Amino acid sequence: MIMFTLSEYHLNKKEEFREFAGKELDLGDHFPRENLQKAAQKGYLGLPIPKEWGGQGEDFLTYILFIEEISRVCSSTGVIIAVHTSVGTFPMLYYGTDQQKSRYLPGLAGGELLGAFALTEAGAGSDAAALSTTATTVDGGYCLNGCKLFITSGGEADIFTVFATVDRSRGVKGITAFLLEKGMPGLTSGHPEKKMGLNRSKTTELRMEDLFVPAANRLGKEGDGFQIAMSLLDGGRIGIAAQGLGLAQAGLDFSTAYLKEGEVSGRKTEQSVSFALADVATGLEAARLLVYRAAAVKDSGMRCSKEASMAKLFATDTAMATATRCMDLCGLSTALIDHPLNRFFCDAKATQIYEGSNQIQRIVIARELLRS
Ligand code: CAA
Repeated sequence: MIMFTLSEYHLNKKEEFREFAGKELDLGDHFPRENLQKAAQKGYLGLPIPKEWGGQGEDFLTYILFIEEISRVCSSTGVIIAVHTSVGTFPMLYYGTDQQKSRYLPGLAGGELLGAFALTEAGAGSDAAALSTTATTVDGGYCLNGCKLFITSGGEADIFTVFATVDRSRGVKGITAFLLEKGMPGLTSGHPEKKMGLNRSKTTELRMEDLFVPAANRLGKEGDGFQIAMSLLDGGRIGIAAQGLGLAQAGLDFSTAYLKEGEVSGRKTEQSVSFALADVATGLEAARLLVYRAAAVKDSGMRCSKEASMAKLFATDTAMATATRCMDLCGLSTALIDHPLNRFFCDAKATQIYEGSNQIQRIVIARELLRS
């Protein structure tokens, strides 16, 4: 059992990230390229990547503190960096050959390249193993055909970790991972989807039509793809949990300031307001402990599937509950689409759904309990 407290080093890092996010991040309605550039200049797009590959050599927990703090200000920037790092860059770090590492990691860690992850399909969302994108062996490599959905940073990313099957009759044992580069003939992104939240992050289809992929771009062995995807998602889900923390903190900060200003004069001391505020703050602290502990388990090198799913489930449900209760506390103006709490509400909903819906997290937690 890993117990958990933040060290002075981590507290200082959190403060540094909070200052960066507060001072440097903008809140426009376009793809947050400037935010990414500013983060890249500070080395923040490669925080948990070893220095030998161009990163900062920080631990996973430090990266999680960063995702929490930037999501508190702009959670679209948060999800772009979370996907870029934990499922867009870790694939090469954990499973790449030296050649793949040296080709991709310095650019990804330095922010010259943006990473993305393509697993989901129309018939394979929660049931990821049902994917139907095919990889047929051809001279010198593979020919990929299929269509991926809901790809974060589709149309913007440079490198995609894509999952396809070399033989559907082998089930999960046929699923294989490939590294695709933007501009490869046969690789196209669709139009950005219209979403209820996280509108600065682009989400598109990714189509592969007779796309030739050199054998050197296969990640891991044939048939290793499903385990690679699942193990990457363990880390990815802690990142989404941290995004939930940032959103919940932003909601609490807004409501507390609003109530302190006395704009709800007469109601401020009502028990219903106090109870709601106390519940929200308590839920957030509990979520924070789960998320940081999951990160510490990952840093220890142990499998963190259960802890990651618990953190994702609880922190993103907390973000949603916080946004809902804070909207109730702050009144009618929060129904306006440009109100900050309205944005937190819409963004929080997405965190409950992606990188495995919270129903999937429950399945993972229960399976891990029954497995041990
Ligand atoms: N680490 C390593 N291996 C793992 C693993 C893990 N965390 N989880 C499972 N595996 C292995 C199993 O050990 C098993 O291998 P063996 O047969 O050798 O024992 C193999 O993978 C198959 O495992 P399961 O039988 O558990 O697989 P399943 O088909 O029952 O699926 C599931 C399990 C948990 C439901 C899975 O399908 C799942 O996580 N679904 C959700 C998918 C998801 O999260 N998608 C999000 C995509 S990304 C996104 O949202 C947006 C973006 O842009 C990033």
